[in-house]
Amino acid sequence: MNQKNAKAVIVALDFSNAQTAIEFTRKFDKPIFVKIGMELFYAAGPSIVDEIKKQGHKVFLDLKFHDIPNTVAGATRSCLELGADIMNLHAGGGSKMMRAAAEEIKNSQIPDKPLLIAVTQLTSTDQQMLKAELLIDIPMEDTVLAYAENAKNSGLNGVVCSALEVRRIKDKLGEDFITVTPGIRPADGEIGDQARVVTPQMAREIGSDYIVVGRPITKAIDPVAAYHQISKDFLGE
Ligand code: C5P
Repeated sequence: MNQKNAKAVIVALDFSNAQTAIEFTRKFDKPIFVKIGMELFYAAGPSIVDEIKKQGHKVFLDLKFHDIPNTVAGATRSCLELGADIMNLHAGGGSKMMRAAAEEIKNSQIPDKPLLIAVTQLTSTDQQMLKAELLIDIPMEDTVLAYAENAKNSGLNGVVCSALEVRRIKDKLGEDFITVTPGIRPADGEIGDQARVVTPQMAREIGSDYIVVGRPITKAIDPVAAYHQISKDFLGE
């Protein structure tokens, strides 16, 4: 296992502006791993990645590319220049698209290459929508596994998935295939709008490589203490 896929808690910076995000990350005097998604990235611009990297933190740039292979290759190149540590795309874009992005990373000269992972099915997509709107008439879990397999065969390092899907994916695609799992709640935490949640301890036992945690940390009265508790529970240290 290389340095890139040491297990860690990734804090979702779901903030609407740079200032709030920067004030939040400044609370941490040791480097952490954060996720910058579309809300913050589109509001603050690419410089937010640089600012947070300059504070010493690692960045999962969650921009979920989905376009023609040539455009996704270009977007990947742009993110490489930003210095992201993990980036992602939609497996639904197909294997040519995924391969174009993976090749871009492979051929780049940067020393510290990011992990490239795929979103399989969004958790907002349910079985009914899969059938009625996407016209896919097989069980959701089977599409998730097939998309994950396509991602692996296209040279990707892993997938974003529910912790509840980790075992099936790793059993089929190997322990080294990385799983990044949101939908995490401490045992005593509020579930909010997440439907199927798993505790940090359960995520560890299941074998998640990274857990993505937002509100249980960002909305905590003491975010640093909440982060350390969740980290301790997940890492088992
Ligand atoms: O606040 P909370 O812990 O629910 O945040 C989880 C983060 O993970 C959010 O940024 C959310 O967009 C993201 N996410 C998710 N479920 C997915 C994919 C991403 O909750 N399937």
